Amino acid sequence: MRRLPPVLLEDGCPRELISLIRTILAACKEISFRVGQGALSGVLGSTLDENIQGETQKKLDVVTNQLLKDILLESGYVKAIASEEEDYTVAGNPDAEYIVAFDPLDGSSNTDINSLVGTIFSIMKAPEGSDAADQSIFMQPGKNQVAAGYVLYGPCTTLALTTGKGTRFFTLDKTHGTFLLTQDFAQVPEDTNEYAINASNQRHWQPAMQSYIDDLMAGETGPRARNFNMRWIAAMVGDVHRVLCRGGLFTYPTDTKDPNKPNKLRLLYEANPMAMLIEQAGGIASTGTERIMDIQPDAIHQRVAVILGSKNEVETCLGYHK
Ligand code: F6P
Repeated sequence: MRRLPPVLLEDGCPRELISLIRTILAACKEISFRVGQGALSGVLGSTLDENIQGETQKKLDVVTNQLLKDILLESGYVKAIASEEEDYTVAGNPDAEYIVAFDPLDGSSNTDINSLVGTIFSIMKAPEGSDAADQSIFMQPGKNQVAAGYVLYGPCTTLALTTGKGTRFFTLDKTHGTFLLTQDFAQVPEDTNEYAINASNQRHWQPAMQSYIDDLMAGETGPRARNFNMRWIAAMVGDVHRVLCRGGLFTYPTDTKDPNKPNKLRLLYEANPMAMLIEQAGGIASTGTERIMDIQPDAIHQRVAVILGSKNEVETCLGYHK
């Protein structure tokens, strides 16, 4: 099985970008170990703090954020970082070419129940001549990403990675500490019978999404004339991984539950990197009205509606939004 650096070199990926990806993965290997230790490492449970987005921070959110932040800033490969757990962006090496946005531990409410969690990252180039301390260097649409990926900490530790030449899976060989290529060019099947929603929010959704899901739930007696299956891991990283592996439609749509927070998922370090992985595997990622990777961000922690997955099913869902 092939190691990550030669695979990326063969693609013509710049050496500095490979080094940056390897730096992120070094932190992820440590995170994989800590998550795997569970209660033994004393990091389960919550802190007494909230992050800037008003969410209770898990101890592992804090630990994993610190790990990634330290290793990235010390490496010299990043000009600046943006993290779900940091109020503002953090400046790094002013001469570096790349900027990284990350969610250090997506689905962290799953840590205490020994369920799936993962690290999501998005890499872009900093605009030429830009200032490392200027937050606006992150205000670029997702189509500018040069690489995106996640590391899923499950029964095995899997990396899904794209540098714009398809989506690949690597598996962490824990005996040697190396990520080995286990699937080249993942393809999301165009059709699916599976969808992922938090159904408890259905009454708060907009009419278009309500009627789309109603029709799926009606099964073979409804307008779709076939039965669908539902799955919900409550960690986007786990749900998107399933979609990449066997197809499906994942959505976290706009809702009216909290008027101050109509959308849940964050554009820069959740929606954009997942959208790139999905599109590179032949799927679609939309808000319902526009391609996720075309959105011009205006805030670091901006939230968006997400509908992604199997091409034909996402198109059907988008049809309800027209
Ligand atoms: O980051 C937000 C997140 O944890 C996603 O990974 C996940 O899809 C969603 O929240 C789960 O939300 P809910 O609490 O509605 O299940």
